[in-house]
Amino acid sequence: MQDRFGRQIQYLRLSVTDRCDFRCSYCLPRSHRDFATPDDWLTPAEIIRLVDVFSALGVTHVRLTGGEPLVRRELPEIAAGIAALPRIRDLSLSTNASRLAAFADRLQGAGVTRLNISLDSLDPDKFGRITGGRLERVLDGIAAARAAGFAPIKINTVAMRGINDDEVDAIVDFCVEHGLTLRFIEAMPVGAGGQQAQDHYMPLSEVEAILRRRFRLAPAAMKGSGPARYFRVDDTELRIGFITPQSQHFCASCNRVRLSVRGDLYLCLGQEDKVELGRLLRDGASDAELAAAIAAGIDRKPERHHFLSAPTAILRPMSSLGG
Ligand code: 5AD
Ligand code: SF4
Repeated sequence: MQDRFGRQIQYLRLSVTDRCDFRCSYCLPRSHRDFATPDDWLTPAEIIRLVDVFSALGVTHVRLTGGEPLVRRELPEIAAGIAALPRIRDLSLSTNASRLAAFADRLQGAGVTRLNISLDSLDPDKFGRITGGRLERVLDGIAAARAAGFAPIKINTVAMRGINDDEVDAIVDFCVEHGLTLRFIEAMPVGAGGQQAQDHYMPLSEVEAILRRRFRLAPAAMKGSGPARYFRVDDTELRIGFITPQSQHFCASCNRVRLSVRGDLYLCLGQEDKVELGRLLRDGASDAELAAAIAAGIDRKPERHHFLSAPTAILRPMSSLGG
């Protein structure tokens, strides 16, 4: 599957729910009410059928996202069904880890290999203020993921000036100690939360400057690494990635599309254009018709996001598509 700009689309980010047990300030405003109704959620069988159609078109990597994917009770079933598809070579999961302690083994057994875990602060009070959740449960979830043998485990930290820029060193130390990969992310102005987060926007060049006070950083390759630019920290096993959607966008190498829990195929995180695959499927479309609708969507995948000069802001919260 190749789009008009020569980009090969092999990666599907699949949101299995738009709900979340956290309310991260930059993602899901506490006032948000417009969640998908359960009748509209794709069922596990519908999800697996759609992923199979995507895989016939060239998708080989699926990431399960949310909201928080672990609030969807059928997640292990969905994961196992996708992992069993012959053309899917890589199944990963993005989670806030709040429920991971109970599910890590089952997910590993279902065929999930790689995990991304959000962690913006190691201070319990601050963590609670940013996310509305409990740090202790997340740390338990990370420990369970390590014990279950997931590798790599990547920690995602949204850099926020005046909020967690004083914790850069502490988060690095935590990742060195626990054998985790660390990625810093620039806050994107997606949804009301993401727009408010721009008050604390911090270009990652500033995080890099903080890190270079303490470490020597050598550029490093990471296989299948998507948009992050990686460095290896001298004298440690630690790799640190920088994901810079604002200061240095990476749209030219974008290899992904996103499917919402309703089955809407979004072609770009920074645009509203979508293909209503869920509706087509429930109207009785054949696999060939679904494949044609996907191909038509890929064919109009936009060249890039326009976060900075957007004529219309993206109003859906980040949680509706899982980042
Ligand atoms: N900007 C950047 N990253 C975000 N995420 C959620 N909202 C935003 C935003 N506005 C990220 C979180 C999490 C992942 C699922 O999405 O850091 O790791
Ligand atoms: Fe939930 Fe993740 Fe959004 Fe936080 S960033 S509110 S954990 S979906």
